Amino acid sequence: PRLYIITPTYRRPEQIAELTRMAQTLMHVQNLHWLVIEDAENKTQLVSDLLQRTGISHDHLVAPMPELFKKKKGAKPRGVSNRNRGLEWLRANAKSGVFYFADDDNTYDIQLFEEIRTTKRVSMWPVGLCTKFGLSSPVVVNGTFVGFYDGWVAGRKFPVDMAGFAVSVEFLLQRPKAIMPYKPGFEEDGFLKSLTPFEPNEIELKAKNCTEVLVWHTQTKKNEASAALDLAKYNSTNLMILKK
Ligand code: UGA
Ligand code: MN
Repeated sequence: PRLYIITPTYRRPEQIAELTRMAQTLMHVQNLHWLVIEDAENKTQLVSDLLQRTGISHDHLVAPMPELFKKKKGAKPRGVSNRNRGLEWLRANAKSGVFYFADDDNTYDIQLFEEIRTTKRVSMWPVGLCTKFGLSSPVVVNGTFVGFYDGWVAGRKFPVDMAGFAVSVEFLLQRPKAIMPYKPGFEEDGFLKSLTPFEPNEIELKAKNCTEVLVWHTQTKKNEASAALDLAKYNSTNLMILKK
């Protein structure tokens, strides 16, 4: 089966660094199509150039966060417009395969993608470095799903991280109303609930019955360099000038 990787990204000093790391992971994976979707009005040239150079089969799309949410104070629905654009693309262009919402800043073991590939409906696995518990995972006893382990349950039916599940394209296509809500903290839960009919006890367990960590919710620390220079605004010629 073909893998569709839906990656939200946005313009910031770390963007090219994150996407370079992620691209060079995905370059090791066969039969994959990468949907890189920018939260922006226009595509960033450096991102287009990077994608081109990797040779990875891809589409570079844009899906700006609606103004209504951008202006709001506090937590924002990050990456939601992008992921919904990805779902829209799948509905228009894909017939089979498996998709995965993969943020641009996480760390992926290439073995994860082979685990994901065999998803029949919805699969799940542990995500490392996630929440105050250090791990978010389905709990498995004697090979059977019994519940979720997550540092922030908050009444969610599916207390899981975005990096912790994959869905079959056919399963999605049978659910024309499935969508991700603009609800900070409840994006995963809202999306998985929109896949109704689907219950937690139906999840397919990956990563050796959820005993292996193959993806980490890493986050890049902002440093002085990122504050000083918006690299995304410079091409290599400009950087040469800056060095003088
Ligand atoms: C956590 C979850 O793992 C995300 O899946 C979820 O979208 C996010 O919280 C949230 O709801 O706020 P976290 O590491 O805190 O992730 O968030 P980011 O990595 O900053 O953002 C998630 C994704 O959205 C990234 O791929 C990022 O590039 C993208 N993003 C972020 C945008 O497209 N626009 C933004 O303004 C911010
Ligand atoms: Mn992140």
